[in-house]
Order: sequence, then C-alpha cells, then structure tokens
Amino acid sequence: MSVEKLNLLNKKREVIELGGGQKRIDKQHSSGKLTCRERLNLLFDENTFVEVDAFVKHRCTNFGMEKNEAPGEGVVCGYGKVDGRLVYSYAQDFTVLGGSLGEMHAKKIIKVMDLAIKMGAPVIGLNDSGGARIQEAVDALAGYGGIFYKNTIASGVIPQISAIMGPCAGGAVYSPALTDFIYMVDRTSQMFITGPQVIKTVTGEDVSAEELGGASTHNMTSGVAHFIAENDQNCIEQIRTLLSFLPSNNAEKAPILETGDSPNREVEILNNIIPDGANKAYDMKDVIVNIVDDGFFYEVQQYFALNMIVGFARINGESIGIIANQPKYMAGSLDIDASDKAARFIRTCDAYNIPILSLVDVPGFLPGTSQEYGGIIRHGAKMLYAYSEATVPKVTLITRKAYGGSYLAMCSKDLGADVVMAWPTAEIAVMGSEGAANIIFSKDIKASENPTETRAQKIKEYNDEFATPYKAAERGFVDDVIQPSLTRLRLADAFDMLSSKRESRPFKKHGNIPL
Ligand code: HXC
Repeated sequence: MSVEKLNLLNKKREVIELGGGQKRIDKQHSSGKLTCRERLNLLFDENTFVEVDAFVKHRCTNFGMEKNEAPGEGVVCGYGKVDGRLVYSYAQDFTVLGGSLGEMHAKKIIKVMDLAIKMGAPVIGLNDSGGARIQEAVDALAGYGGIFYKNTIASGVIPQISAIMGPCAGGAVYSPALTDFIYMVDRTSQMFITGPQVIKTVTGEDVSAEELGGASTHNMTSGVAHFIAENDQNCIEQIRTLLSFLPSNNAEKAPILETGDSPNREVEILNNIIPDGANKAYDMKDVIVNIVDDGFFYEVQQYFALNMIVGFARINGESIGIIANQPKYMAGSLDIDASDKAARFIRTCDAYNIPILSLVDVPGFLPGTSQEYGGIIRHGAKMLYAYSEATVPKVTLITRKAYGGSYLAMCSKDLGADVVMAWPTAEIAVMGSEGAANIIFSKDIKASENPTETRAQKIKEYNDEFATPYKAAERGFVDDVIQPSLTRLRLADAFDMLSSKRESRPFKKHGNIPL
C-alpha cells in the first residue's frame, strides 16, 4: 500500500479524534468536564475500546452546515470490555456542535444499540448534548424518535444505563428516561423538558438551570435520577460498579463474585438491633450492611423517598436486589414516592434475573388527603403488581412491624414470596396495638372505672396475642422464626435453595401495571 493512503487514513483519524478542536476541548476541561474520549477510556478496560462509525458525516446543508465538518458527527460510538465483559457505549461530543443530535448522529447511536441487542450486552449512553440539532429540524426529531423506539425495544432485554454529563434539554431527556438507570454528575449536568428562559416566558417563574434540573433536584426531589456522582471520573467508576451487579442480558444471571466473606458468618449484633419500644427508630441500613457480603450495599435512589431503601448487594457472591423499609424516616410508612421507587426497582430486578430480598418494618400506608388525592391507591398498587408479577426468587424477612395492606405490599407469602422469615420481634397484624385496642375494646374502655388502665391492659392483651410472628407462623404465612444473628446464614441458604426456581405464567402480550 502506498504511504499516501496510510497518511490519509491517519490524517482523517487525527481530525476525527480532535473533535471540535483544542480550544473547545480546553473549554470542556475548564468547565470541569472530561471529553467524550477520556470518558470512554475510563469506562472500558485498557485498550479494549473499538470505535464504530468514526467516519460518518452529517448530510445537512441548511444554514451553512455544508461547511461544518462536525468530526465524528458529535458522538463517539463503539464497544469494548468492562471487567472482561462485552459492553456497548456511545459518548456525545460537546465540542462538536454542542453534541447536538442530528440524523446521522442518531443513526450511529441506533447502530450500537442494534448490535447490543443482537449480542445481548449492556449499552451505556454518556450524554452531553444541546439536544436536537437545530439546523437539521425534523431530521433531528426523527433521530430522537428512532432512539426512543430502540430504547423501548431493548428495555428488559439488555441493561441500559444513561449518564448525564452535561446539558440534556428538551426531547434529549426522554432517551435516558426510557433506560434502566440514570446517573447525573453534580453541578455539571442538567435535565429539563423546557429550560429556564422558556419557563420565565410562559409561567413567569424565575429558576436557575441548576435548581430546575441539576443533579440534586433529580436525585432528591423528582426521583428522575438514580445516582449522583461528584465528577466525571466518579460517575464512570460507579457505572462500572453497577455493571458488576447486572447480567449482560435478560437470558443470563449476574456474575457471581466470590468475596471470601463466609455465608455462614454469625452476626451477634443483629440480636440487639431492634430497640425495645415499638415506636423507636433504628437504621435499616445497619441491618443490611450486617447481612450482605463485605457489608457492601450499592444504594439506588439514595436521596429520594428516604422511607424506602432499594439497592444491590451480594450474599454468598450472588447479586441480589434489596427492598427495605426505613423506620428512621416517616417510620418507614409507604407513600406515593416510596411505592413508585420500590415498584420500579422490583421490576428492574425481575427483568434481569436478580433475586429479591425484602426487609420489612412497615406501619402502613401514609394516611392523609395529599396521599389520597395524589393517587396512593394507584401508586401503592404498583408494588402489589410488581411483587406479584416478579418470578425471580423472592425472600422476605420481617424484622418488626408488618401491618395491614403494607404487610402484603412488602411481599407477603400471598404475593408470591418463596421464603418468608421473621425475627422474634416481628409484629404481623392488621394494625398497631394502640389503634386496634381503641377500636375493638372501645366499649370496655368507656365502661371502665379506670379507662387508662383498661386501655393499657387491652393493648397488652392485643400485643401478647397478635403482635408476634407466631400467629402468622402457625398458619404458614411465615416459614420460620429465626434468631437474628443467624440471618445471613439463613438468607444464603434460602437463595441457594431458590437458585433453580422456575415459574411460568399464562401467555399475555404484556400486563397492565397501574401507571
Ligand atoms: C445546534 C447547538 C445546539 C443545538 C448547542 N449548539 N446546542 N448547535 N443545535 N441544539 C452549539 C452552539 O451553537 C455552540 O457552537 C456549541 O454548540 C456550544 O454551545 P454554547 O451555547 O456555546 O455552550 P454553552 O454556553 O455551554 O450552552 C450549552 C447549552 C446551549 C445550554 C446546551 O447551547 C443551549 O441552550 N442550546 C440549545 C438547547 C436547546 O434548546 N436544544 C433544543 C432542545 S429541543 P459553537 O460552534 O459556537 O461551538 C429538542 C427537541 C427534541 O431537543 C424533541 C424530541 C422528541
């Protein structure tokens, strides 16, 4: 081959790899962001990334675009290995036309998504884009449409993870919203449907971009994002961690990661973790870290709906999803946000064959007009639906309260739990003893010469009779009452026993979960 041909190839590649040029790269760095290629280098194992479609160009001739080279079309696409496993990715290049999405930019993304679906491997989208490329008009909109369609086809087949690493405006937010997990980098990323200027014009509201759609807003208030990262590096590290808990596709199981932490380890501290008073709070995360391998719990939506805890951990090396009430916050009661958070996570685990552990200490659904008007019936029903629909191994451990509808909503036996265990501190009843005594013994209390004493006595009677795990265990709703210190061992045994679980359901096109 002539040297000229090789030189031409190298020159073209050089131009493509420089994206929007050194000036814009410097601007990217000075705003605290890495370039798309630096991000991809961090994501993939060393020297494993293979670029696809580097030479693709746009075909737009509007507004002088024919003179704009737009190297790489503003997005770098390809595949490589993460911890030795095949992963696909696209990273938008903000230095090229602000990472804006046009027809060919979208085609590049769709190509890697198609490959990922065929090969059964995750797709990681690193988003940093001014949205639809204004010069390309309807072609840009069609590009987004194609991506949304593909996101939906891939949903539940291959894990899709989105990182928001810069602006993400207009329709650009909907592709991430259709994926399984959204990361946002603190202070350098925003997501919104309409920006501050439009809001000011339409509603008169004054709001900064950060307040409107920054990482804190979407992690704490809206619940749109699942994770917050302190910077680009931390974001990529976290994505690698998340991938380690997930299988490559819905026909596989997540990889087993031998941690060396014995599944037979007894945990004495758990015998004393529940406080004496029924209304005293404790931190359910203390229970979780004491049960799981190496105490490592990767929490999802850590800052949203704090009364519900969800996240990934391992027991005996096997990836599990944990759904737990948090008695430290709103007494662990179920409200609209907690129900949505749990239901979504249950379905994610079920889609990707990740067994579910539910840790229960729940006094009930949160009462009040704001909850009823907000549709707690519809939202709470999502939990019932998601648990009932899930066919992965389901293990439930009741640590303390499990009252009424919320007892069912946290995966009781009747909702398909394969194994239900309870600690001796469990109270499985229609409602708490004080409320129950006031209703069923109201006549006795009223007629009594000393109502306070009678009430206390009736509460005690109710507690002795019902606020225990034994009534439920007598009927087989609880399989066993266990010593807390043996919890890790018993859970490891249960998940091991359930590892060959098969459960089929009647054919349907798809269910109709209340949305
Ligand atoms: C074409 C764009 C662009 C866009 C930015 N650029 N957004 N080019 N189409 N949508 C270009 C700029 O012209 C500039 O080019 C470079 O990218 C960097 O942009 P700056 O404005 O200099 O950067 P910055 O100050 O950091 O501001 C970034 C920004 C802002 C906040 C993203 O550019 C912005 O508001 N862009 C428009 C956002 C938007 O409204 N998008 C359309 C959303 S509607 P040069 O050559 O100077 O480097 C949508 C509909 C889709 O997406 C619907 C699908 C269903």
